[in-house]
Amino acid sequence: MKKEIKESFKLINGKEIPSIGFGTSLIVGDECVNNIKQALEVGYTHIDTAAAYKNEEFIGKAIKESRIPRENIFITSKVWKDSMGYENTMKSFNNTLKKLGLDYIDLFLIHWPSNKSKELNIETWKALEDLYKSGKVKSIGVSNFLENHLKIILDNCEIMPMVNQLEFHPGLIRKDTIDFCKEKNIILEAWAPLGKGKMLQNEELIRIANKYNKSTAQICIRWCLQNEVIPLPKSSNIDRMKQNKEVFDFEISEEDMYFINNMEFFAGSDMDPMTFN
Ligand code: A2P
Repeated sequence: MKKEIKESFKLINGKEIPSIGFGTSLIVGDECVNNIKQALEVGYTHIDTAAAYKNEEFIGKAIKESRIPRENIFITSKVWKDSMGYENTMKSFNNTLKKLGLDYIDLFLIHWPSNKSKELNIETWKALEDLYKSGKVKSIGVSNFLENHLKIILDNCEIMPMVNQLEFHPGLIRKDTIDFCKEKNIILEAWAPLGKGKMLQNEELIRIANKYNKSTAQICIRWCLQNEVIPLPKSSNIDRMKQNKEVFDFEISEEDMYFINNMEFFAGSDMDPMTFN
């Protein structure tokens, strides 16, 4: 029976999150405004940004110019490492809101865990909890948190993280963290679901893509979804943006899922959450 993938996933607080998002790192200025306007035009309803991407104001401009009603767009942003701690996080959030030109955001994440200070992670989380309670943020979560980082939050939180965003693509699966999040009902998101484009030339993935008459990008994206992970692909090209959303009309077999789940292409990421400070 075909595995049904819904257009949105439900977070533990009952809010819906669109099951494919659009990644926005590394684009700024007019290029960013045009890119996001195109993404909205072809039907992306979920945009992922961060203070560190330095493009929130351009994304805000694109949203405004698109004239799409605010409630039809799901916006995520993140607090960067240099703004952690309770007061700094509050300040950073207010800047994010101002730059985006919005009065609330849908999801706010801690961008990276601090490996130096457990307290800093806890204090930052406390700020996110207060923002959630104020209604300025509809859901809260973390990014690049491995099991050990998550445990610190879970042991000290009043409100559970609803999302964990990780680098995730064929060849880079942090199985322990993924299993832990699923057990705790934390929804997973994948940044760089195409391995920053590098996975697209992988011969095994090309072989599988040919079998389904799909592109390797579509295989990577559908593979995320069948693993119940929300992919956040990026593209600067409108045809590829469209292609990356056309993944609901086929299913990767159990056998091929198993094969891709066990592919070891990269030994690891160049931004390992245990060592990236
Ligand atoms: P482009 O912007 O020219 O489309 P990731 O999302 O893993 O970071 O990967 C992004 C990279 O993958 C970008 O270089 C992007 O290039 C490329 N890319 C995105 N979608 C596709 C696609 N459908 N086919 C080929 N390359 C793609």
